[in-house]
Amino acid sequence: MAITTKKTPVIKLRDLKKRFGIGDAEAYALDGVDLTIKNGEFVAIMGPSGCGKTTLLNIIGLLDRSYFGQYELDGKPVDSISRRKQAFIRSKQIGYIFQNFNLVPRLNIIENVALPLTYSGVTRVNSLIVASDILKLFHLNEREYYMPHQLSGGQIQRVAIARALVNKPTIILADEPTGNLDSRSSHIIMEELAALHSVGNTIIMVTHNANLTTYASRVITMLDGKIDTDSREMPKPEKPKHKRPKAKKTKKKLTAKLKRKKK
Ligand SMILES: Nc1ncnc2c1ncn2[C@@H]1O[C@H](COP(=O)(O)OP(=O)(O)O)[C@@H](O)[C@H]1O
Ligand SMILES: [Mg+2]
Repeated sequence: MAITTKKTPVIKLRDLKKRFGIGDAEAYALDGVDLTIKNGEFVAIMGPSGCGKTTLLNIIGLLDRSYFGQYELDGKPVDSISRRKQAFIRSKQIGYIFQNFNLVPRLNIIENVALPLTYSGVTRVNSLIVASDILKLFHLNEREYYMPHQLSGGQIQRVAIARALVNKPTIILADEPTGNLDSRSSHIIMEELAALHSVGNTIIMVTHNANLTTYASRVITMLDGKIDTDSREMPKPEKPKHKRPKAKKTKKKLTAKLKRKKK
């Protein structure tokens, strides 16, 4: 993002709350989330189903504006960013990889990938050129003119990721990007996210798979709408319950023991 400096956190949430329903049915999907994410972090978010992960990602991605608490994006309160500017940020600076990939079934692969560019005003020819380039990167160039239903689950997922990245976003939000994929396809996608992280992009990824958190630089777990654990805030080491005998004492005891034996 243009105004991002290394020091300003990309995302800063304070006491974030999100409520669904009314009256007796009212429930907090987010119940006071405090979270600061620095530029270039790769954050993995884990937690049981229903704990608020998708709700959190939607708010971070400016897709949901009805919440309580503070959200600063690049040091700027989101409340103070105009709707137009927010739309600009959504289309140019944030890449979304959704749980269900939402490819448009009647468009072929290259058109699907080019879609975000077409939306942001790039001409059709230019957007197809850029889409073709990114599809090459994802080893999908031979599938450009296939329809979505002709691809495997893993290929569709790679198309969805290519589409999320076609605008070169600096923040990538991924909601279980490896969803129902086999281990090999999952690792291909994780390698791609890791490569994006290595060139300085910020990645926030929800996952159920603990094995995949090894790609992340930080792991957060959520529980009941709150942050439960955060690997960056290292817990203080516990004091050992039993003091280890000092080496000298042990040595003395040993020599005494030996002497007794000799006697
Ligand atoms: N549109 C909605 N209307 C009512 N409740 C919702 C809605 N979206 C999510 N919730 C509730 O908010 C909670 C958090 O949901 P979600 O963020 O989808 O959890 P997760 O992604 O961690 O599985 C759940 O209890 C869910 O039922
Ligand atoms: Mg979810």
